[in-house]
Amino acid sequence: MAAQIISGKTLAARIKQRVAGEVAQLKEQGIHPCLAVMLVGDDPASQVYVRGKQNDCAECGIESRLVRLEASVTQAQVLEELGRLAADPSVHGVLVQLPLPAGIDEQAVIAAIPPEKDVDGFTPVNVGRMNIGLDCFLPCTPAGCIEMLRSTGLAIEGKQAVVVGRSNIVGKPAAALLLRENATVTVCHSRTKDLARVCAGADILVAAIGRAKFITGDMIKPGAVVIDVGINRGADGKLCGDVDFDAAAEKAAFITPVPGGVGLMTRAMLLCNTVQAARMAAGR
Ligand code: GUN
Repeated sequence: MAAQIISGKTLAARIKQRVAGEVAQLKEQGIHPCLAVMLVGDDPASQVYVRGKQNDCAECGIESRLVRLEASVTQAQVLEELGRLAADPSVHGVLVQLPLPAGIDEQAVIAAIPPEKDVDGFTPVNVGRMNIGLDCFLPCTPAGCIEMLRSTGLAIEGKQAVVVGRSNIVGKPAAALLLRENATVTVCHSRTKDLARVCAGADILVAAIGRAKFITGDMIKPGAVVIDVGINRGADGKLCGDVDFDAAAEKAAFITPVPGGVGLMTRAMLLCNTVQAARMAAGR
């Protein structure tokens, strides 16, 4: 294997340690950072993610409040609950775990989160602010990807960056952040022609497709930095990314592992955003 591993575990631990220190300082000033997480229905993966977020908060001294709603809840009830969290001054961050059950309009729910509590960076206001380069909460997964890229010490500016996937949560904002870092950005998706060739030109490859080992070794440029956002269950039952790790690691200069990669950074960035929300609410 040629590639160096970008360890989400190491980077996230460092960030969490810093956040814990900041939380302790805020508490001395009477500010108690608090994240409210809304979980609608009983999607098993979402339950795992939400538990992870609660554990992370506890580790850093951030209060977390779980708002659980049945899958049968109406959109009006979801919006009513969000209204309560929006109005509660003791809640600094509000996160609605996605996906929502069928029949609930995801965009209508996201739009009901006050931008100043939108620690996921998903509201139209924050998406817009990000795209025009204003201060805002950055979406956690793409922000984590940028932190991982920075950790390599390599320049992002001027590089050919290829993002595979165009979701609102990862692909589109990852492209926006890479552009902000002055990369030349290509976004690929299911209709892209000659995907392998486009990927093979990437100095920075961000894989956010959601299909196990979709990116094969022949799609990696020698010396590339490969950021694997996928978390899939492989044919062997093990967790794996969107990238065929072993094959890609033969060619890349740096690669993120799955598990132990981007997922941990997503969680760490959420903690950063929550502390920022608490600080902003206190006018600090
Ligand atoms: N579902 C998958 N990823 C995410 C995320 O980053 N935030 C939320 N709220 N839901 C998700």
